[in-house]
Amino acid sequence: MIEYKKIDITHKQDLKKLIEDVLTKLERKEFFIPFTEDEIEGMFDPDTTIIYGAFDDDKLVGTAQLYLQESYVKDIKEIIDLNDNKVVELGGYLVLEEYRNKGIMKKLETILVDEARNNGYEFIVITIHPDNVPSNKVAESIDAKIVMTTNLGDYLRNIYLLKLK
Ligand SMILES: CC(C)(COP(=O)(O)OP(=O)(O)OC[C@H]1O[C@@H](n2cnc3c(N)ncnc32)[C@H](O)[C@@H]1OP(=O)(O)O)[C@@H](O)C(=O)NCCC(=O)NCCS
Repeated sequence: MIEYKKIDITHKQDLKKLIEDVLTKLERKEFFIPFTEDEIEGMFDPDTTIIYGAFDDDKLVGTAQLYLQESYVKDIKEIIDLNDNKVVELGGYLVLEEYRNKGIMKKLETILVDEARNNGYEFIVITIHPDNVPSNKVAESIDAKIVMTTNLGDYLRNIYLLKLK
């Protein structure tokens, strides 16, 4: 049975391995904006990121994350005209190939939506390449709506918005 729990620094090596495993096998590299080393290091500060993992016994097989820092969402807030609102970004969707299409990401997403709501956010944004079918499906499953499709730097993205209150 898959178990879902919050990840902390004790899982750093597991998380790094999961990121590497999924990203090296990714056929369309533009589907995932790679983490920098600094981002991976900073990820374990609970003031910047809430990370959940899906575990099969002790093996980390999936993750998703809430990016709490204003700097993460500043540009997107401007683009979609939500400068005065409390907005959090949901992302970092990664599941090992052999564990896909079992609902793992949908479950992680639901948990993180609850976290965002409990932390007082008004909106969640999710950015996904328009051709990334599974990822778009996951975002649609929580009733997030595409408000725009645009380039974020070099990356074409659907910008999804979910209103929490
Ligand atoms: C995106 C990703 C995290 C999804 O994880 P997952 O645990 O397999 O997702 P779920 O099982 O919860 O849901 C996947 C949905 O996509 C659907 N799906 C998957 N492949 C599909 C395809 N080729 N065509 C149509 N639907 C597809 C599944 O049927 C399911 O939807 P449903 O429940 O409505 O039927 C996983 O595919 C992944 O790690 N991809 C590589 C990294 C990546 O692209 N990350 C996203 C960055 S935004």
